[in-house]
Amino acid sequence: MRTESLPRFQGVLTPVVYRNGGIDLLDQTQLPQQEVVLRLTDVSEVAEAIRTMRVRGAPAIGITAAYGMVVGTEDDESLVTVERMEAIAEALRATRPTAVNLSWAIDRMMAVFVRHEDEAAPRLREILLAEARRIHEEDIEANRCIGRHGAELLPQGARVLTICNTGALATGGYGTALGVVRAAHEGGKLRMVYACETRPRLQGSRLTAWELLNEGVPFRLCVDSAAGYLMAQGRIDAVLTGADRIAKSGDTANKIGTYALAVLARYHDIPFYVVAPTSTVDESTLRGDGIPIEERSEGEVLAPFGVAFAPDGAQAWNPAFDVTPASLIAAIITEVGVFRSPYCFEIERK
Ligand code: MRU
Repeated sequence: MRTESLPRFQGVLTPVVYRNGGIDLLDQTQLPQQEVVLRLTDVSEVAEAIRTMRVRGAPAIGITAAYGMVVGTEDDESLVTVERMEAIAEALRATRPTAVNLSWAIDRMMAVFVRHEDEAAPRLREILLAEARRIHEEDIEANRCIGRHGAELLPQGARVLTICNTGALATGGYGTALGVVRAAHEGGKLRMVYACETRPRLQGSRLTAWELLNEGVPFRLCVDSAAGYLMAQGRIDAVLTGADRIAKSGDTANKIGTYALAVLARYHDIPFYVVAPTSTVDESTLRGDGIPIEERSEGEVLAPFGVAFAPDGAQAWNPAFDVTPASLIAAIITEVGVFRSPYCFEIERK
């Protein structure tokens, strides 16, 4: 598989890069059939790409929004007003509600703007771009640390189960839960990855499989409902999942189906690990019941990818995420270390 023509940042495969006044974005809705790189030069295009999941995954949408805030000032020649910056921020913030990395990145960009709002637009753009690139760079660095911490927790010959896509495509590069998989594979510790297909958007079948094939990591796809039987057969040593928002208490929102995996893992006495950078921790949300859960369109369930399976007139409920209580989580693996219960996050912010 050739990936040289895909976006790279500091030599690493990434879903998004900023280049000459615009964003190059790998369209994940077209993977794995086609590797299409879109050119986005307008905030409304960036917002559309996040909303429709052309780019998805908590850290990746945060980084895309950070670059989007630079793109938003691209036509300005003199000063950029606070009102204008706030409108750009709101358009991006409104795209998806659950992943806190989105508003975390937007807030960080706004804080830089406020410190430099008197600069002329060209200079301000340089300053904002430098911050967006720092966010991107820090994410890749965090993922490498996470990979090392996580791989240490796995036994030799580990067989792990994962859900959704948490790899390079979902982050600035390298990945979170899939970063642990990569690090374990590089260290010769990994026997097998079981990847849940992840209904209804099939991030497991389409994206995780694409990444694991590229990396030469041994894996099997399975339907989401095979997870219990896999565990009952003694074929899973650890469950590794990403996170979209971790409350102060450790309760964690992640892709729909994650909670079911955590319950199954507890029943079968298998460690369930949440893997995420500290940008996913939201100390201002005390518990999981305070996390907003995105509900997406019925069409994603009734007619996935445009193919109608349900009869005309059927209705569907389509929450994109669920919340796993901290009590089911064996550890939360971050770049600053491995946290265990009782969780009570106090992250030092830049
Ligand atoms: O709806 P998605 O594809 O954006 O959901 C992504 C997930 O749930 C991931 O597990 C999470 O964002 C972590 S990605 C490192």
